[in-house]
Amino acid sequence: MNISVIGTGYVGLVSGVALSEVGHHVTCLDINEEKVAQLLRGESPIYEPGIEEMMKRNIKSGHLHFTTDYKEACDEADALYIAVGTPEKEDGTADLRFVKAVVDSVAANLTDAITVVIKSTVPVGTNDWVQSLFDEQAEVVVNVVSNPEFLREGSAIHDTFYGDRIIIGADNQEAGDVVAAINKSFDIPIFRTDRRSAEMIKYAANAFLATKISYINEISNMCDIMNANVEDVAKGMGMDKRIGSGFLNAGIGYGGSCFPKDTSALLKQAEAQGMPFPLMRAVIDTNADQQLKLIDKAEDRFGSLKGKKIAVLGLSFKPNTDDMRAAPSIPVTSRLILDGAEVTAYDPIAMNAAKNVLPKAITYAESVKECIQDAEVIFILTEWKEILSDLLSLIQDNNKKVVLFDGRNSYGYQELKDISLVEYYSIGRPLLTNQLEKVSY
Ligand code: UDX
Repeated sequence: MNISVIGTGYVGLVSGVALSEVGHHVTCLDINEEKVAQLLRGESPIYEPGIEEMMKRNIKSGHLHFTTDYKEACDEADALYIAVGTPEKEDGTADLRFVKAVVDSVAANLTDAITVVIKSTVPVGTNDWVQSLFDEQAEVVVNVVSNPEFLREGSAIHDTFYGDRIIIGADNQEAGDVVAAINKSFDIPIFRTDRRSAEMIKYAANAFLATKISYINEISNMCDIMNANVEDVAKGMGMDKRIGSGFLNAGIGYGGSCFPKDTSALLKQAEAQGMPFPLMRAVIDTNADQQLKLIDKAEDRFGSLKGKKIAVLGLSFKPNTDDMRAAPSIPVTSRLILDGAEVTAYDPIAMNAAKNVLPKAITYAESVKECIQDAEVIFILTEWKEILSDLLSLIQDNNKKVVLFDGRNSYGYQELKDISLVEYYSIGRPLLTNQLEKVSY
């Protein structure tokens, strides 16, 4: 089929590339000319393992094309995907400005009946609203179908081809059939429902995963107090199939482009209907507190962090991405600088992006080795393999005692037991902390 995808952010680009890979003819549109020129050269504007090879292959075979021209994107398209951003507004609601702008441009350029697929995460009722806009503005029949996206950054290509389900929300049977036919080659179970339920599935799923994380983080805080080990607790919980083991890793909270924005948007949608949803409020508040857990632990250990030389390892919100949106490194480094610490930071991929959002007083190192060289204290904020694999041996080689605050529970007792130079603190694992000797400063 001929498919156009509007918006070449994470969701749009990955969807467009994947649809071309399964044999559709895909035109991706973005209004950013520079970005489109880059894409036409086969260069990905996002860091995502595997995407560039797939892009290049499909550009070469003629299945994938990029444009800034709405007429080109609308002509001959059997289906048109809307995959633009719905960022969080200051009041926590989703900003639908970009969706509206796309609808206006598409409506003005359509010459044939078409199925419009909304991939962007949008508040419940948005698909109905978009349908009414097309009904008013377009001169041809448009059927709007909800098809939310569940891919994770860093494993987006894998998730697209091996996802657990594809959700199709259609109020028009034939339009739903079109989207089911487009997705047939992915060989992933398809669940069909109405548009509003599909929109709600996306929010409910993301908010549930965020709830799991905040829940295990609160349990980790209890484990700290009560001398239990949250890793074993999570393992024991996850063995119950009704609970499941995924998303039970305690740490310094969730970040990224989805969970923070979607939990806020869900809460705001409930509140707008007069429903307070205290559970969602607690998930969000718990996460904000959890992001500063390492600072609490460091303050307990040292009293004041003023003048301390602190190495911060990992800045992106999770490994395998350069995305800094809502990354715990933002509140953590801001607090460290405010408290008067001397901060040196390193991230394998996100350093350029980080420089735009982190406090200016931070010094950046070119490697883990350089970052920890003079440090008395090390914070691990993101569990990049590149950071974790060498860190303990680099500390030994450096021959200088350090206090290590690990926000991602990266090391087990076995790995630490022979490392005499580290005093180690992690999240919800007090036994590990106590087993290591205190460094005197
Ligand atoms: C998430 C959803 O997983 C995906 O389905 C949706 O489409 C977009 O939002 P993403 O934000 O890319 O994907 O990352 P994910 O891997 O889900 O992690 C989100 C955050 O939760 C990260 O900050 C991660 O460090 C944190 N996390 C995840 C935990 O703290 N503990 C866990 O057990 C899992």
